[in-house]
Amino acid sequence: MKRISLFGATGTIGDNALDLMARHQGRFSLFAASAEANAEKLADIARRFNPSLLVIGDEKGRIALSAALPDFKGDILVGEQGLLQMAEQDVALNIMAIVGFAGLAPSLACAARGGALALANKEALVAAGAHLMTLAAANKTQILPVDSEHNAVFQLLQGQGGAAQPDNITLTASGGPFREFTRAAMQKVTPEQAVAHPNWSMGAKISVDSATMMNKGLELIEAHHLFAIAPDKLDAIIHPQSIVHGLVHFADGSVLAQKGSPDMRVPLAYCMAYPDRIDAGVAPLDLTAQGRLDFAAIDRAQFPCLALAEAAMRAGGAAPARLNAANEAAVAAFLENRIGFLQIAETVDAVLQKQGCNDSGDIEAVRAIDSEARAQAKAHFDTL
Ligand SMILES: NC(=O)c1ccc[n+]([C@@H]2O[C@H](COP(=O)([O-])OP(=O)(O)OC[C@H]3O[C@@H](n4cnc5c(N)ncnc54)[C@H](OP(=O)(O)O)[C@@H]3O)[C@@H](O)[C@H]2O)c1
Repeated sequence: MKRISLFGATGTIGDNALDLMARHQGRFSLFAASAEANAEKLADIARRFNPSLLVIGDEKGRIALSAALPDFKGDILVGEQGLLQMAEQDVALNIMAIVGFAGLAPSLACAARGGALALANKEALVAAGAHLMTLAAANKTQILPVDSEHNAVFQLLQGQGGAAQPDNITLTASGGPFREFTRAAMQKVTPEQAVAHPNWSMGAKISVDSATMMNKGLELIEAHHLFAIAPDKLDAIIHPQSIVHGLVHFADGSVLAQKGSPDMRVPLAYCMAYPDRIDAGVAPLDLTAQGRLDFAAIDRAQFPCLALAEAAMRAGGAAPARLNAANEAAVAAFLENRIGFLQIAETVDAVLQKQGCNDSGDIEAVRAIDSEARAQAKAHFDTL
């Protein structure tokens, strides 16, 4: 029985991980689960999976959770300290499905503990990728990428050691809901339109990131750290059907591609059962029924967030953390109808052009960079 701690259990990735646990009850048990605010859903998860530890964002949430679970015998912890304690528990696998920069500190704590970490939270790798990977290597923590594109590349690289290093890695992008929109048409799009992704069912923040293509930029930075590959050997292309998730190019001209239906249970099942394979509950992929698979270059003028992320990746230092913080602030403002869709990229660009504190590699320095860039993003909103 594999004991699992699920950070961000109440989100979309959490739903998919719990679906797999329910399908394989003799193989997985839920030891701990966290939520930020959704006490009702976390209580429901506790009733269904009987974990020993729950973590919720604040005291108000703890009171609601205790009231909803009068017979719960385990511990209920609160806030970031609670998440850090959750990361110290003796489990076979931590799944990190918290959204945003809030996932960084618990991801670092999981990386410092050893064992296996299935990492869905991409913002941790963007903000502090070198630090996270070094910590994981020093403590023999195996990082299993949950993001479908990185999971694809991880699978493709199995057994490709020594001189068989990849020449290039290509990630695919569906193009999101505005793939065929002009910039003028994007000017008027609403949060409701932006979160309605054509192929994937995801949380609000990543859905907006997919619509701006910042998501693909964050994923290139994620791949740069996960696979220790130089920025100029990484690319992203449009593939509207989301069947091919990643491609690895080798010196001899061979290009390996991983395919799967656009369902997060596919990469999650791989991470959760690794190195085995389990039934993910996904219908077999029928390529003849699927028919055509299309590929196209991404127009950086149409999707400037991708170019901004690529520039931040090449610049290194504090730039990726600043990009991530400015983007999180701008996406939150867009979802609250405070700024327009195109102003997300404008805000990130404005913040990246400002001076900021340097990255000295530790978590406190990254927190300072994050806070400073968020403040600069908010100051920029006032000028709009
Ligand atoms: N969804 C996908 O298909 C997908 C694919 C690849 C990668 N990812 C990555 O996986 C992560 C999760 O995505 P998602 O779509 O599952 O997000 P989501 O549906 O918004 O769920 C986010 C989870 O994180 C918790 N959370 C939110 N803010 C928090 C905070 N400040 N501190 C602690 N916990 C917090 C939420 O709790 P509450 O419910 O209580 O708010 C929820 O459990 C993201 O980094 C995303 O980029 C997602």
